[in-house]
Amino acid sequence: MKICCIGAGYVGGPTMAVIALKCPEIEVVVVDIAAPRINAWNSDHLPIYEPGLDDVVKQCRGKNLFFSTDVEKHVAEANIVFVSVNTPTKTQGLGAGKAADLTYWESAARMIADVSKSDKIVVEKSTVPVKTAEAIERILTHNRKGINFNILSNPEFLAEGTAIADLFNPDRVLIGGRETPEGQKAIKTLKDVYAHWVSDDRILCTNLWSAELSKLAANAFLAQRISSVNAMSALCEATGADVSQVSHSIGTDSRIGPKFLNASVGFGGSCFQKDILNLVYICECNGLPEVANYWKQVIKVNDYQKNRFVNRVVSSMFNTVSGKKIAILGFAFKKDTGDTRETPAIDVCKGLLGDKAKLSIYDPQVTEEQITRDLSMKKFDWDHPAHLQPSSPVTNNKQVSVVWDAYEAIKDAHGICILTEWDEFKKLDYQKVYESMQKPAFVFDGRNVVDANKLREIGFIVYSIGKPLDSWLKDMPAVA
Ligand code: NAD
Ligand code: UDX
Repeated sequence: MKICCIGAGYVGGPTMAVIALKCPEIEVVVVDIAAPRINAWNSDHLPIYEPGLDDVVKQCRGKNLFFSTDVEKHVAEANIVFVSVNTPTKTQGLGAGKAADLTYWESAARMIADVSKSDKIVVEKSTVPVKTAEAIERILTHNRKGINFNILSNPEFLAEGTAIADLFNPDRVLIGGRETPEGQKAIKTLKDVYAHWVSDDRILCTNLWSAELSKLAANAFLAQRISSVNAMSALCEATGADVSQVSHSIGTDSRIGPKFLNASVGFGGSCFQKDILNLVYICECNGLPEVANYWKQVIKVNDYQKNRFVNRVVSSMFNTVSGKKIAILGFAFKKDTGDTRETPAIDVCKGLLGDKAKLSIYDPQVTEEQITRDLSMKKFDWDHPAHLQPSSPVTNNKQVSVVWDAYEAIKDAHGICILTEWDEFKKLDYQKVYESMQKPAFVFDGRNVVDANKLREIGFIVYSIGKPLDSWLKDMPAVA
């Protein structure tokens, strides 16, 4: 059995590495058009940071796990082809700003049709609009007569930062296929791969459309929880309630549950916004404007939360941050990843730069080049494979410096914005930090990681999301 995965990204790389580890008799090849990515997968410095990933890759690379740019050869030889390419939001044309751009998926499907000489199971691993399998089926069967292609939907539920743990011990694996005998046979073949390490009760088999839609629905529900708690955080600040206490109180209701109720500066990541916009577009196309508007609100509240944070920073600092140094601690969209796609830090930094602040940014896993690129890129441009090529244009912004040490970022700053919940930000020597800053010294904690009362004792003015406000902040209300 040979598996080939098109797309060596955050999903394709870790997912295939775990399949290779758990199924030593299967040869797994991950292919990509981006040569720098493949070179990195074949080196000691993997292209993505993910706890535990190095270990898994080291155990099977060169044995039954390979990374290659020879896309056509490996697709031709495979029995199962996973497609895990980008499905970004369209930037122009019909549905721009909402619909999923299936250019990369379609070109992968056409290539599969062109090079196939034997029957194949083609697996949608990318997150796609519901009914994509039908379009893919047409492309494959119209372009390649005499070869049987069976399309399966097998969406991925891993979260970054915990990808390896999620893959080792998934809540569920979802496989959707046609309800024909061939479709059911294909489902069984893929199920047998996962059965190497996932118990039968956790492998859910559905029809194609349910599997495709379940992925969008899962991300919409998860993001909706965050927007709900973030909406509550605004009300907490206005009333003196504490959002952590509210989250705990509602989370102990077993019907609600405790997870995904952490108020924050806003959710980020490559999936939530993109997938909800995609869902909104599908609802609109199906004549369901009320349903579309319901989900759109999740994004609106997320944008409101990021704006609210910027406004709070500016209004607290005498309504201007012009020329003031502000330290940005954390740029990745969550801890334990170097991924910055749709990170709230981009919008917060752009908001502060718009008010002419000088930013000094530190993140333990994000390079200066990446930050500079992110701050100069247009919305939605980030998820197109061209960004992986070294030739992408980058504009340097003189208002921004990127440093490799939190204390250096903070020195002489008027304020600190904590935008990623890296553990090391909890353990900084805040007395030393206070002494090195301009006064009054502000901390705006976008992740509720610091002990605000301890910091207040030192002398800081502290803003924590959704917590009772310092008298200073009460006197300078932020207008969202
Ligand atoms: P990514 O950008 O990290 O990787 C995609 C890769 O596909 C890139 O390396 C790109 O060069 C390659 N590619 C694009 N077109 C190609 C082609 N025609 N031939 C060969 N390679 C090609 O993206 P990702 O985060 O791995 O996401 C991939 C898909 O998985 C998306 O649909 C995403 O929504 C979904 N997903 C992502 C996550 C996540 O946490 N990142 C989780 C679940 C699902
Ligand atoms: C998400 C889904 O969780 C995963 O199942 C899917 O496959 C891909 O999209 P990911 O984006 O990698 O995973 O990370 P996730 O842990 O979901 O966090 C997304 C964003 O929400 C981050 O910015 C995180 O900081 C934020 N978040 C998460 C909150 O603000 N509060 C929370 O309680 C949880």
